[in-house]
Amino acid sequence: MARQLPLGVLISGSGTNLQAIIDAIEAKRLDAVIRVVISNREDAFGLVRAKKHNIPTEIVDHRKFPSREAYDQALIDILEARQVELVVLAGFMRLLSPVLVKAFSNRIMNIHPALLPAFPGLHVQKKAAEHGVRFSGCTVHFVNEGCDEGPIIIQAVVPVYPDDTEESLSARILKEEHRIYPGAIQLHSEGRLHVVGRKVLVDNLEKEENQVLVNPPLKG
Ligand code: GAR
Repeated sequence: MARQLPLGVLISGSGTNLQAIIDAIEAKRLDAVIRVVISNREDAFGLVRAKKHNIPTEIVDHRKFPSREAYDQALIDILEARQVELVVLAGFMRLLSPVLVKAFSNRIMNIHPALLPAFPGLHVQKKAAEHGVRFSGCTVHFVNEGCDEGPIIIQAVVPVYPDDTEESLSARILKEEHRIYPGAIQLHSEGRLHVVGRKVLVDNLEKEENQVLVNPPLKG
């Protein structure tokens, strides 16, 4: 049996990406084990999802800590006690301090609902729809000390239409998030990701040179 990469998943809300990771592990598409799910909010629905699958959970409320660094140290203590090797941010709506980024250097992944480096930050599906871009998507990247700017692992592209709303575009993107996040973690589990400067090199990368998308489509 392949080695099971020990994960710590950090959430703040609904946890549909957490669910996609759980499902991929149970379907044996992902060689990993979730050692702990940590939420900064006690009402995060992702906690219910974790408990349903007998995954240990912790609530670490950021409002109870004097500083970002103190909060992140509490996270590190839990992650280290559980011998987590990869930290997975799955809708964790907090900026990380250098304390946590350094403790898990190139071992923290985040998923962002836009094609970085376009549209970093918050409410990015709304911003993409309003901007009139023809494509958006999602990005899984390693976390560095900047906001949404670490080395990119994988991206999925979806079309954006003039009548898209924040909701319709978010749903289209979220569906792809659920595909690429388990995929990115599996690449890491297989030891195929190597960070070199700004780039993430992938061992045995398959290239599809003719994979071109045009929106609106050109006839003929
Ligand atoms: C996802 O769309 C994720 O990309 C986004 O929050 C949502 C969480 O959904 N993350 C960020 O915006 C991070 N800055 P989920 O709780 O259902 O997985």
